[in-house]
Amino acid sequence: MKISLKASKISQLDVDSLNLFFWENELEKSLRDIPTGLISLIKEAEKREEFKGGRDEILILSSKGLISSYKLILTGLGKKNDFNRAVLAEQVAKSIRKSKENKAVRVGLVLSDDGFNKLGVKNAVQTIVEAVFLSTYRFLKYKSEEERNKIREIEEVIVAVSPGRLSLAEEGIDIGKSMSIAALYARDLVNEPSQVTTPTFLADEAIRLGKNSQGLLKVTVLDKEEIEKLGMNSFLGVAKGSDEPPKFIILKYKPARPKKKLVIIGKGITFDTGGLSLKPAEHMETMKLDMAGAASILGIFSAFPSFKPSVEVVGLIAACENMPSGKALKPGDILKALNGKTIEVLNTDAEGRLTLADALSYAVKQEKPDEIIDLATLTGACQVALGQDIAGLFGNNESLLHSLERASKETGEQVWRMPLSEQYKELNKSKIADIKNIQTGRYGGAITAALFLQEFVGTTAWAHLDIAGPAYIEKDTPLTPTGGAGFGVRLVLHYINTL
Ligand code: BES
Ligand code: ZN
Ligand code: ZN
Repeated sequence: MKISLKASKISQLDVDSLNLFFWENELEKSLRDIPTGLISLIKEAEKREEFKGGRDEILILSSKGLISSYKLILTGLGKKNDFNRAVLAEQVAKSIRKSKENKAVRVGLVLSDDGFNKLGVKNAVQTIVEAVFLSTYRFLKYKSEEERNKIREIEEVIVAVSPGRLSLAEEGIDIGKSMSIAALYARDLVNEPSQVTTPTFLADEAIRLGKNSQGLLKVTVLDKEEIEKLGMNSFLGVAKGSDEPPKFIILKYKPARPKKKLVIIGKGITFDTGGLSLKPAEHMETMKLDMAGAASILGIFSAFPSFKPSVEVVGLIAACENMPSGKALKPGDILKALNGKTIEVLNTDAEGRLTLADALSYAVKQEKPDEIIDLATLTGACQVALGQDIAGLFGNNESLLHSLERASKETGEQVWRMPLSEQYKELNKSKIADIKNIQTGRYGGAITAALFLQEFVGTTAWAHLDIAGPAYIEKDTPLTPTGGAGFGVRLVLHYINTL
């Protein structure tokens, strides 16, 4: 799909569907540079109470030959005071989807000058671009050609801007495109079945990113023997049950004079059967998603050659499959992590924290970063607590957490602060090892899992995103069709780009 800017008059935009956006109860103020014929059409719709500009309103009108465009799609932006980037993204997504349903091939988007001013031209355009790409994404690789050909794709989206704003808008286009490509790449990786996205496949993807980066990314992959030598026995414990060899993937990006050093870690369980603590069939159906954190790390690194951030970033993925077998880890087994702590494994389905224990220990010991961020589809409990759309945000450093919350607001990738309550540490105590991998009792599972991870970060500033909910969308939403969401890619990239 092509996305471009045009400073020409709206009436001259050569599109099938012209998509206009309005403030609630302020239709007239939302209009500018709109041919008078159209204004009366819109006013008529308002008078008939068909459209007032609310966030749940979309109205399709025939342009009646008043302009070259065949259809008009009016989309509400809601109250002007509540307007932000997330609202714009959501409404653009809905509007674009309507155009697609109406078989438009060329779409024009018109936001009032006010709208651009409120968010800043660059930000507004970036948000629009992201919304266009995220909302039209489909994973159709495994559908027949016949099926794929039935879908009429939008070929071009034209964003109308006033001439004085073209250069800022241009920047927004570039950033938005790079962000989208990275997020959609992560979606693809999550949507691929686990028979494709094996640990070896993820490692090869990382190597490929390195090769295509003109020397900007250095990628190292450690195999089983090297992982053993380092002493990552907690990670290896999880990998034991599978015939797929584990891989420890290290990606490095280092600018000339880095302002600080970050490690980002993604949970990389390429399939989570639960191991011998086998999951019931319904819970296993979507467990190819358990490498979504890893997918996001690859997505983030794929964008560094275009963003060239000013900080050093190391990406870590402990990739393996969680399988039951004659060689698998058993409940009651004790593993010694890289940092020397012993872990009693009482449930082999709480495997993410076992692999992350070693990735976090490795980060602290080998990389000595200023900050660590991990992204992990860690607990069903977090989904219960926050629902499908919102990630749990935990951590030990106020300023890092605050920055991530800000990035969340800007990108619309929702997070919510969760506590690392000291008094729950008790629940992770083992009778015979330093710690156990499941808690005593039933409640607060997202928190006890995060507290478990905390045992491996020492005093390093650290943020943990439990993305079990938003990593994989079960029910189609305007910005994300069912499947992998690429959650965290834009959030973390936004954070890194502001450093
Ligand atoms: N990968 C799952 C968590 C998950 C569940 C992610 C649903 C996405 C959707 C994780 O490894 C797991 O199985 N966690 C267990 C922990 C329990 C055994 C303490 C869970 O949440 O039930
Ligand atoms: Zn599990
Ligand atoms: Zn898991």
